Amino acid sequence: MHIDAVLNPAEIALLPQRDLSGVTCVVFDVLRATSSMLTGLAHGAAEIHPVCTIEEALALRQRLPDAILGGERNGDLIPGFDIGNSPLEYQEQVRGRRIITTTTNGTVALRACEHADRVLVGALLNIGALAQELTAKAARKVLLVCAGTFETFALEDAYAAGVLIEELAPATMTDSALTVRTLAAAYPEPLAALKHARNGQALGVSGRTADVEWCAQRSKYTVIGQMSAAVIRPLHA
Ligand code: MLT
Repeated sequence: MHIDAVLNPAEIALLPQRDLSGVTCVVFDVLRATSSMLTGLAHGAAEIHPVCTIEEALALRQRLPDAILGGERNGDLIPGFDIGNSPLEYQEQVRGRRIITTTTNGTVALRACEHADRVLVGALLNIGALAQELTAKAARKVLLVCAGTFETFALEDAYAAGVLIEELAPATMTDSALTVRTLAAAYPEPLAALKHARNGQALGVSGRTADVEWCAQRSKYTVIGQMSAAVIRPLHA
């Protein structure tokens, strides 16, 4: 297995032009988009449609009128949407439902690698299951896509990517993959990493410490979220 990592939104913006044939992408937006998606799938959400803009979300809901509209801008509920981007909102209320979601970085990162062989949704919440899945499917080339925050690197995404590498046995790694693995080793406790991150601190200041604590739970779920033709579905519950 060869592991590479992209660490910031500028690199993610280049992914649509990059050859990702034969590559399995794992996309991390730990605070909070991919953690909310995994929570939703673990609670029986039928499918998740990640889109980049509010306009796309609204247009898609015209075609899927039964879908829940979710997401955020600046971390807050989008006016007229049903739910925001807190993982606590992606529980019983999403069981059996379709979700359309648009977030600042997470959904953009997912869609940027949609031409890859496989795209998996990454979070600390299912990190053990992700490692098992990549090992069981003998993934040869893995690209860890760290969504970041607005235009910048986000510690929590790189941290989770590094924790995943710790659970794998890669034959080769790029310098970026080596860097995130080294970062993971610096935080034996996931919550310490998330609380140290700028994003974790900002969520705390806005009264969302419970979200940070939720997203720091390691291997709470075994569900795998796989995106195919721009729709994320659970591989197994
Ligand atoms: C994003 O996609 O940029 C984040 O998930 C923002 C958030 O924490 O809601």
